[in-house]
Amino acid sequence: MKAAIRLEGLGMRFGTTAAVAGVDLDIAGDDFLVLLGPSGCGKTTLLRMIAGLLRPTEGRILLGDRDITHLPPRDRDLAMVFQSYALYPHLTVERNLGFGLGVRRTPKAEVRRRVREAAALLDLEPLLARRPKELSGGQRQRVALGRAIVREPRAFLMDEPLSNLDAKLRASTRTELIRLHRRLATTFVYVTHDQIDAMTMATRVAVMNGGRIEQVGTPVQIYDEPATTFVAGFMGAPPMNLLDAHLRADDGRLAVHATDVHVPLWAGTDAARDVVLGVRPEHLRVARPATADRSCAASSRSWRTSAARRSPRSPSATRGRPCAARDRWACASATP
Ligand SMILES: Nc1ncnc2c1ncn2[C@@H]1O[C@H](COP(=O)(O)OP(=O)(O)OP(=O)(O)O)[C@@H](O)[C@H]1O
Ligand SMILES: [Mg+2]
Repeated sequence: MKAAIRLEGLGMRFGTTAAVAGVDLDIAGDDFLVLLGPSGCGKTTLLRMIAGLLRPTEGRILLGDRDITHLPPRDRDLAMVFQSYALYPHLTVERNLGFGLGVRRTPKAEVRRRVREAAALLDLEPLLARRPKELSGGQRQRVALGRAIVREPRAFLMDEPLSNLDAKLRASTRTELIRLHRRLATTFVYVTHDQIDAMTMATRVAVMNGGRIEQVGTPVQIYDEPATTFVAGFMGAPPMNLLDAHLRADDGRLAVHATDVHVPLWAGTDAARDVVLGVRPEHLRVARPATADRSCAASSRSWRTSAARRSPRSPSATRGRPCAARDRWACASATP
């Protein structure tokens, strides 16, 4: 059973620290929503509020039509997978998987059925009799996921569940999670600071910064049309180059001018203003000095440009340079 989650003006204060502030977010019933952002931006706090482990200091949480803001975690029908896995060391895999159901007094035959189903889904059948210390990190991670699956929750909440895995296992587990999401067709909310997690698994990404959401969109939208300089600088490795520039119209055509870089745009007479020019490193090419032309007009590629709002909360997005003078920025990326 899947359910949409709606956050309305959600906030969490710890003393004078606003860990999460005024978050509005609609998560669809079949979304794989990735909450992405740097360390300390409030991802875990937001997830723990959805799970009911933290009581928000402002705002509301709706699950379907129901206001669950003040419901205890056990009544929310949501399953959380923690980074640490939190398995019971003295119980076998089978009993770890069924433990939560036993606590809820689910009939034994039903517990057995659900545990077998989850074990089959996650290839855990050969491991059912082992204890956590006899498992690899990846196997433990699958048990933690299985424990969430057996509950047949209305949504899965995951906090960096892959962070203890090596790169190879991380890649294969991403594929497993995508498959699992398709198969269960239910809501996944997944917290990470890893943009590869976001780009490969998400149906939608919410980029967080300083307790707020900067942008929500598909991975491609976030990458190609970043709404703020923070998102532009955060997504991509190596990150987008951000140059102070000026937009003006010359003979009825718009162009962006930065030091040694001139980017012709489309016909227009938009008002001249300071902007930030964003150029992804993969869209630059090396030219021979004889043919190099400082003007991008020499390129046979077309420039696709989008204007977006300046990030009001992220002076660091322009690498320490103040951006107060800018009212908008232009993100240019070359497409073949
Ligand atoms: N119990 C608490 N008491 C006081 N401050 C807290 C508490 N929990 C979190 N914070 C603060 O709230 C902010 C957000 O923390 P949170 O754990 O949500 O960040 P995060 O995005 O999950 O970071 P990470 O990627 O490092 O896990 C941080 O500044 C943190 O220090
Ligand atoms: Mg965290």
